[in-house]
Amino acid sequence: MDMLVKLYDLRPDAELDARIAAHGFEIRLALPPELHVVTRWIASRFGEGWASEATIAMSRQPVSCLLATVEGKLAGFACYDATARGFFGPTGVDESHRSKGVGQALLLRALLAMRDIGYGYAVIGSAGPMEFYRRTVGAIPIEGSKPGIYRGMLDLGPTGPTGS
Ligand SMILES: CC(C)(COP(=O)(O)OP(=O)(O)OC[C@H]1O[C@@H](n2cnc3c(N)ncnc32)[C@H](O)[C@@H]1OP(=O)(O)O)[C@@H](O)C(=O)NCCC(=O)NCCS
Repeated sequence: MDMLVKLYDLRPDAELDARIAAHGFEIRLALPPELHVVTRWIASRFGEGWASEATIAMSRQPVSCLLATVEGKLAGFACYDATARGFFGPTGVDESHRSKGVGQALLLRALLAMRDIGYGYAVIGSAGPMEFYRRTVGAIPIEGSKPGIYRGMLDLGPTGPTGS
């Protein structure tokens, strides 16, 4: 199911930023020369479908894909305006770096970027961890939104760990 977020209610979270910085994480826009590195990383962890969406997000200017890095290595990513305008996602954090605030920081930074380019609301497309989105940014479910924009999508096959 999709979820809706009020972007006008969001504020930067300096405490969260400081928490991830203390662990050595940096969040920044993806750079197009990194496309092959980023999509390979995503495909091996989350499947080819998400790598395809990230390709779209990294193929525009300015790019709509944020990366979390630590010691020069990719730790997580978050995209928006990939499959549909106004949609957040996909996003993912490497298992070894979870529960350190990186997922929340990526989410917030991406949503604030969406607000800055003029969106009033964001849709979390096909939200998996709904409680995570509710707690972090007050997202609410959109009734009747499944399969939503993904209706009739081809079978993506067993293309990665999630196959999604
Ligand atoms: C969802 C995800 C991005 C969160 O990344 P993370 O770096 O671990 O997130 P944070 O450390 O910022 O926040 C973790 C908090 O969210 C909660 N959380 C994470 N996944 C959750 C889930 N599936 N359901 C409920 N809560 C969840 C954790 O319990 C934790 O809360 P706590 O700090 O009180 O313990 C990561 O778990 C992930 O990559 N999951 C697989 C891919 C995925 O589902 N992406 C979303 C697709 S819509």
